[in-house]
Amino acid sequence: MIIKNGNVVLENGVAKKDILIENGKITKIADEITGVGETLDASGLYVFPGLIDMHVHLREPGFEHKEDIESGSKAAVKGGFTQICCMPNTDPVADNKVVVSYIRNRGKEVGLCKVHPIGAITKGLKGEFLADVGEMKKVGAVAISDDGKTVKSTRLMRLAMEYASGFNIKCLCHCEDADLVDGGVVNEGFNSTLAGLKGIQRAAEDIVIARDIALAESLDVPVHICHVSTHSGVRLIRDAKRAGVKVTAETCPHYFALTDDVIRDFNTNTKVNPPIREEVDKQAILEGLKDGTLDCIVTDHAPHHADDKNVEYNLAAFGISGIETSFSLAITHLYKTGLLTLPEIAQRMSLNPAQILGLEGGKIEEGGVADLMLASLEEEWTVKADELVSKGKNTPFDGCKLTGVVKATIVDGKVVYNA
Ligand code: DOR
Ligand code: ZN
Ligand code: ZN
Repeated sequence: MIIKNGNVVLENGVAKKDILIENGKITKIADEITGVGETLDASGLYVFPGLIDMHVHLREPGFEHKEDIESGSKAAVKGGFTQICCMPNTDPVADNKVVVSYIRNRGKEVGLCKVHPIGAITKGLKGEFLADVGEMKKVGAVAISDDGKTVKSTRLMRLAMEYASGFNIKCLCHCEDADLVDGGVVNEGFNSTLAGLKGIQRAAEDIVIARDIALAESLDVPVHICHVSTHSGVRLIRDAKRAGVKVTAETCPHYFALTDDVIRDFNTNTKVNPPIREEVDKQAILEGLKDGTLDCIVTDHAPHHADDKNVEYNLAAFGISGIETSFSLAITHLYKTGLLTLPEIAQRMSLNPAQILGLEGGKIEEGGVADLMLASLEEEWTVKADELVSKGKNTPFDGCKLTGVVKATIVDGKVVYNA
């Protein structure tokens, strides 16, 4: 296949190039390539490395009424993703080789994007005993995480980080001091007071970020901080990086696109953990993305059933269905505003996740895997929750007009999505 006349997003800039794909690999990138076979006209479009989302929830096994590996994969390729990594908070929990290989095999059977399972840190996510990292890695786990919960015991977290490092796999930390959260549902501040909802302090997140950084520093092992939402968390990570700690971090589109003003109408689709914070946090997240303190943009795609959300705010499930809006939110809020260049967006949404987890792909280069995404950066669209491909219609962006539309997604040289 030849992709013709696209604006190709390379590591150091954007250039009009043709791309030749043979046997699932990019074999040539040149000003003009002619030949026989299938051609894909990318005139007026941008060609990105396939996006990689290192933090999603696919809900299978156990919660297939919220999402399954097939519906999640369909939503992912529509969103421009060629690889996704799914968290282990399923039922049964992905804390052993049987569940981890089930997820991996089911992803392959569906055959749309590459589905990489993340194994649990502790058995049953209970925070008591370590899961078997080595055995899970052998069958394809690309990282370990108790996401949804913090490993409360610092002693156990230390062990987890040592084991993970020994097996050359990353520990992805959901940072939340549950005692301090104490039933809070939104950010603690003016809006929580106005709404009469129990707040969650920034400190609940920052305390655990600081703890995990301290462990990484004293053990001299890597650590990855999930879904950073606070300005103070960004500062902790920036300072740690400057001091040479092996810390990497991610944030999500809802933290750079929204402030907690959106909770005022009690729309439960704004309920997410950690909570959407304030303007000062949003600005710090944008700065952190710009200066590289925040390495990755992930979605934390957390699809829920309508029954989990059509309840009063206090009772609603935490989570946002985010995989179909992520790229457009990045284009709208980061590229069109002049904050990030296209290579910088590709780095945060593809290259850095690939490098942190040791996955193939992440950039467009001769000899590289042909995982690509074609997008229009001029076209606008309006998010309609009920038109999402994901089973989870829980988006706070319903009705928002966004710029940037994914036109095609290519995995191993095969077109798996075509708008
Ligand atoms: O909002 C969230 N939803 N945050 C988490 O940490 C877990 C996730 C879920 O599994 O629904
Ligand atoms: Zn989490
Ligand atoms: Zn999550």
